[in-house]
Amino acid sequence: MASKQVILVTGGAGFIGSHVVRRLVNRYPNYEVVNLDVLTYAGNLENLKDLESAPNYRFVKGDITDEAFVNQLFAEEHFDGIIHLAAESHVDRSITTPLAFVQTNVMGTANLLNAARKQWEASFQGKLFYHVSTDEVYGSLGKEGLFTETTSYDPRSPYSASKASSDHLVRAYWHTYGLPIVISNCSNNYGPNQFPEKLIPLCINNIRKSLPLPIYGKGENVRDWLYVEDHATAIDLVYHQGKHGETYNIGGHNEWTNIDLVRQLCAIMDTKLGREAGTSAQLITFVKDRAGHDLRYAIDAAKIEQELGWTPSLQFEEGLTKTVDWYLANQTWLDNITSGDYQGYYEQQYHSR
Ligand code: NAD
Ligand code: TYD
Repeated sequence: MASKQVILVTGGAGFIGSHVVRRLVNRYPNYEVVNLDVLTYAGNLENLKDLESAPNYRFVKGDITDEAFVNQLFAEEHFDGIIHLAAESHVDRSITTPLAFVQTNVMGTANLLNAARKQWEASFQGKLFYHVSTDEVYGSLGKEGLFTETTSYDPRSPYSASKASSDHLVRAYWHTYGLPIVISNCSNNYGPNQFPEKLIPLCINNIRKSLPLPIYGKGENVRDWLYVEDHATAIDLVYHQGKHGETYNIGGHNEWTNIDLVRQLCAIMDTKLGREAGTSAQLITFVKDRAGHDLRYAIDAAKIEQELGWTPSLQFEEGLTKTVDWYLANQTWLDNITSGDYQGYYEQQYHSR
């Protein structure tokens, strides 16, 4: 059994964070898992309802950009490890409110790094700061090639630029102070609990309501999709077995153009909803492209596969079907989060496209 430790997970009430928290709480009963989240629009404690009475789980509401709060938390708690996921995560929002991304993703990460360094400075033995990042820091690929761990950083959106900045800060703490760190850069995730501003849950929500499916540009942009639980498995592995100071790329070997993906999703939804084949695809609507829209992301995951023995467990059709099943079985979850501010966001984001 893994030895006892206290792990701080930031952003645990969000999409990926909730799957990471669940995996740690269920798999490591002798770990104490502390979930720190400020509960932005993307944070939802409903995602973790099943863990509320777990004896090895605690939720702390707080803001990683609040230096005094972070320092106070680290003065009161003794964390052995930190898995840092809290972030502003949506590219479209970063185009409208870039400074919020700098504040949370850059300043928030710097606050955590500083607090960890101070708490652990007597001895870094047995400690680890794990920073969860994105493949978007590498920029945009042409039709060929894959992102490896040595691909130069070339972020192009305020979101990816803020994540790249945070990655650089994490590496700087490793080189300058010897803070034990590890970073992973993952491709696009999909699965249960993803906020319906991202492509897949947005389309699932619109298909069930027979609303237009907004496809940016010609729908030719390519993303490499990974089921969220496969990402959580990889995070668990990297946390426990990753080499300190290293970076691991995580990806699904699963490239899809947006238009092909949405057509596939429409076909699955037609079957699930008992609609005639081809019905949902009629909702596809091409709209104005995203500013600076990265053409293609694709990950070379050879390092994590060879060094840590990780591989994605699900084929895309299976993962997509599981995802659709989850959203259809949890329509109250969807209705609750799309009933308030979401309407305003949607109107602002899509009305002029
Ligand atoms: P998400 O937007 O669903 O969740 C982010 C969480 O962080 C929310 O619970 C939110 O309340 C919390 N948060 C935001 N600002 C905070 C603050 N100031 N203090 C405390 N908590 C705060 O994001 P996600 O999709 O789950 O992504 C999690 C991480 O994984 C991010 O760092 C993201 O960059 C990275 N990532 C995401 C993807 C993806 O496809 N979603 C892919 C690769 C990497
Ligand atoms: P998204 O889920 O926002 O992830 P990211 O921008 O981080 O890759 O978008 C995935 C792809 O889908 C991306 O190429 C943009 C596109 N997209 C649309 O065509 N329409 C939409 O309404 C959204 C949200 C995204």
